[in-house]
Amino acid sequence: MALSFEHLHRNLFCLISLSSLLILSLFHPIAANPAAKSYIVYMGKSTKEQGDIEAAKLSHLTLLSSVIPSEESERLFLKHIYHHSFKGFSAMLTEEEASILSESNEILSIFPDQKLELHTTRSWDFLAESTSGMARIQRLYPNGSSEVIIGVIDTDFGFGFGFGFGFSEIPSRWKGTCMQGNDFNKSDCNSAGYYDLNSSSKDTSKSNSTGSPRDQQGHGTHVASTAVGNLIPNADLQGRLARGLAKGGFPSSRIASYKVCSTGTDCAGSVILKAFDDAIEDGVHIISVSIGAVSHAKFLEDPIALGSLHAVQAGIMVIAAAGNAGPNPYTVLNTAPWIMTIAASTIDRDFGSSIVLGNKKVIQGFSINLSTVNRSESFPLVFGRDVAINSSSVAAASNCATGSLDENKVDGKIILCIEDKDFANVTRLEKVVTAITAQAQGIILVDKATYRSFPLDSGEFSFSQVDNIAAAQILKYINSTKNPTAIILPSVDIRKFTPAPTIPDFSARGPGNLTEGILKPDLTAPGVNILASVQPSDGNGGFSMGNSTQLAIQTGTSMACPHVSGAVAHMISLRPKWTPSMLRSALMTTAIITNNAGKPITNESEAFASPHEMGAGEVSPSRALHPGLVYETSTTDYLNFLCYFGYNTTVLRSMVDLKFTCPANSSEDLISDINYPSISIAKLRGARTITRTVTNVGRRNSNYTVKIESPGDLVVRVSPETLVFSPEHRKASFDVS
Ligand SMILES: *[C@@H]1O[C@H](CO)[C@@H](O)[C@H](O)[C@H]1NC(C)=O
Ligand SMILES: *[C@@H]1O[C@H](CO)[C@@H](O)[C@H](O)[C@H]1NC(C)=O
Ligand SMILES: *[C@@H]1O[C@H](CO)[C@@H](O)[C@H](O)[C@H]1NC(C)=O
Ligand SMILES: *[C@@H]1O[C@H](CO)[C@@H](O)[C@H](O)[C@H]1NC(C)=O
Ligand SMILES: *[C@@H]1O[C@H](CO)[C@@H](O)[C@H](O)[C@H]1NC(C)=O
Ligand SMILES: *[C@@H]1O[C@H](CO)[C@@H](O)[C@H](O)[C@H]1NC(C)=O
Ligand SMILES: *[C@@H]1O[C@H](CO)[C@@H](O)[C@H](O)[C@H]1NC(C)=O
Ligand SMILES: *[C@@H]1O[C@H](CO)[C@@H](O)[C@H](O)[C@H]1NC(C)=O
Ligand SMILES: *[C@@H]1O[C@H](CO)[C@@H](O)[C@H](O)[C@H]1NC(C)=O
Ligand SMILES: *[C@@H]1O[C@H](CO)[C@@H](O)[C@H](O)[C@H]1NC(C)=O
Ligand SMILES: *[C@@H]1O[C@H](CO)[C@@H](O)[C@H](O)[C@H]1NC(C)=O
Ligand SMILES: *[C@@H]1O[C@H](CO)[C@@H](O)[C@H](O)[C@H]1NC(C)=O
Repeated sequence: MALSFEHLHRNLFCLISLSSLLILSLFHPIAANPAAKSYIVYMGKSTKEQGDIEAAKLSHLTLLSSVIPSEESERLFLKHIYHHSFKGFSAMLTEEEASILSESNEILSIFPDQKLELHTTRSWDFLAESTSGMARIQRLYPNGSSEVIIGVIDTDFGFGFGFGFGFSEIPSRWKGTCMQGNDFNKSDCNSAGYYDLNSSSKDTSKSNSTGSPRDQQGHGTHVASTAVGNLIPNADLQGRLARGLAKGGFPSSRIASYKVCSTGTDCAGSVILKAFDDAIEDGVHIISVSIGAVSHAKFLEDPIALGSLHAVQAGIMVIAAAGNAGPNPYTVLNTAPWIMTIAASTIDRDFGSSIVLGNKKVIQGFSINLSTVNRSESFPLVFGRDVAINSSSVAAASNCATGSLDENKVDGKIILCIEDKDFANVTRLEKVVTAITAQAQGIILVDKATYRSFPLDSGEFSFSQVDNIAAAQILKYINSTKNPTAIILPSVDIRKFTPAPTIPDFSARGPGNLTEGILKPDLTAPGVNILASVQPSDGNGGFSMGNSTQLAIQTGTSMACPHVSGAVAHMISLRPKWTPSMLRSALMTTAIITNNAGKPITNESEAFASPHEMGAGEVSPSRALHPGLVYETSTTDYLNFLCYFGYNTTVLRSMVDLKFTCPANSSEDLISDINYPSISIAKLRGARTITRTVTNVGRRNSNYTVKIESPGDLVVRVSPETLVFSPEHRKASFDVS
């Protein structure tokens, strides 16, 4: 039996360039003392004695009273208390008070409670087709197992439609509760928790629309239904697009929902940490987080990294979105090695909106058009350059920059707007508004970089987006005739679009900002134009249970993350003994790196996507069940990682129940040595040897032989070249030089 070690050296390369990022930190509004703001206090692992929450509260309040002056006693309260698998709390403190507290032996880290951001149907079929997997799995195991629980930390999910119904027994592992709100029946739910920004426990009592687990934002519902939505026959988008069967990844798994973003996209780190604490205690198998920090906080100052570390120790796999800040390098978030970090890819469905020119030539454009109007009339067609207002430059008008168009010349026409480098700062929405203001009938936008990744919702305004080649054809036509005209046709589905998958521009890129010793992101999954449930709105800010739109298309690494959560739920039901790191390794080493045209996966510039863009490649749920060998990453590996990163033995011993000592001579350079399923070496100079250990989960007696495809001009050697496994020898190590 031969194993290709491809994934090893594909990821082995030399990282040298550095770029800088401008990051804004957002802090909570101030309380009585204008200098006080919300802080998170992390105190390490929870000990049995601390089980008594009242005693813990008292001890935390005593600590607080040692720094908060008595005349400001209104600040003597715990916003949140963490007490299940780790200890800590959040409170309103001044910078000075926080600095004094940080000296306390009990406190491992204290950091400002930053706001985090949400990262935003054919995708499962596409995975099945490209990997011939999911469909077969669903035939083999039509009922799956309903024992796998996915904890979704998000805006929460609505239970109105498509999933969550008809389960019998609640899994015995589950220790959580089921919430009830005034618009939310207990019978509707598997489980949902919601958090008040200031309440110290999961709230079960409020009967208030803002205190309801119902999703008022749409994001959480969409994410949850992607992971586990039950089959919804004839799903479509307002009866017009994407007709077919909408299905979540693994219909039979259950969702435990933790609503951490109460108003809009406002997700506080202290609340997220609380959700982790509860989810671990509740007994979920998987935690799916489509949220990321705004800045690159260090691991002990990042609520998602901290919560995940404790989750992984409890055997829970954490899957997180890489973020939407691409395409620049160093933008990937959630980069801790105990998190599985997911980038986004396009799928093979697109939404086309063709343009018929006066000369009958049909140009392919793209837009999502929910209008029920079948066909617009023919309108005169003009190029922005030719209809500039006197006070504006021709270049500005070509780009339809604000205030550049002469209404007298645009009124009643379809306008073509291009995108020059100098005007990259003019957003598509600005162009549309400029066209509407000038009384245009419609707009044709040239926007190569984003046209496939973000469909623009232009309301009822007629709109189509084209690439540079199409734009040149349209310009040529405009030049060729006295009275150019065009029709913008309504949107239609384009199926089997090639190439797919591709990496869209928004998907955040590696290397990681904190260290380049771990390759991030880990994996890619569909995250562009994903059709899934949203909570139907009644148009008055509330929600109707009628048959208004219940499915919507959303785009973002947030949408990619639940695809992997669904795949992992399925893997867990079939491979219940695999640990989170085995599951991750299996997904990474079986990922697909070619597109549906049989070529290497490309990025938004049509260049081959690098591992910094797609990690190990596109997820393949079925192949991941048979990885042959897996790279197990242990808690000791993670602790070594933290030592290499700069934390010391004292700090790490307070975090885990393990007799652990940092290796002597810990240095950042050694991070590449932790037993991860990819290899990344920062600033490689000269020779370097890395050791990896694999565990055989395939046939018991088998030999694996290495196959090397070196990246660039690196010379790669692997020793030994053959690994021999038997029932007695399930593990083997090798060196990569
Ligand atoms: C990493 O993030 C920090 C803070 O968010 C920023 O100051 C720094 O420039 C970033 N480094 C890189 C290489 O992007
Ligand atoms: C699936 O569930 C149905 C109804 O409960 C049952 O009749 C059927 O045997 C199950 N199929 C499998 C493969 O377990
Ligand atoms: C909740 O259940 C009650 C009793 O079954 C029913 O009368 C009510 O309409 C339900 N409410 C919602 C929002 O579904
Ligand atoms: C939380 O508490 C702070 C301090 O008392 C207060 O300023 C803030 O408005 C509260 N927030 C919520 C959502 O209740
Ligand atoms: C409902 O929410 C509003 C605004 O957040 C609050 O003022 C009100 O007291 C809440 N009502 C109940 C019954 O909790
Ligand atoms: C659009 O076309 C469909 C079928 O071709 C027709 O049933 C419908 O009435 C048309 N709608 C309008 C607004 O013309
Ligand atoms: C966009 O860039 C152009 C050219 O650099 C500049 O003139 C214009 O003011 C900018 N517009 C905005 C909205 O920043
Ligand atoms: C959709 O297409 C119709 C017919 O071409 C047009 O009238 C309408 O404005 C379009 N809407 C959008 C959002 O493009
Ligand atoms: C259109 O004509 C103008 C002037 O005649 C010329 O400058 C321009 O290059 C032509 N554009 C195209 C796309 O042919
Ligand atoms: C829901 O759909 C049914 C049948 O398709 C239709 O008769 C009914 O009017 C719709 N209700 C609403 C509230 O749209
Ligand atoms: C370990 O690190 C903590 C926090 O940086 C520091 O306070 C402590 O003195 C260090 N301990 C040792 C033994 O170096
Ligand atoms: C694996 O290699 C060993 C040693 O070279 C050999 O004895 C054994 O037969 C091989 N096993 C298989 C299954 O090929």
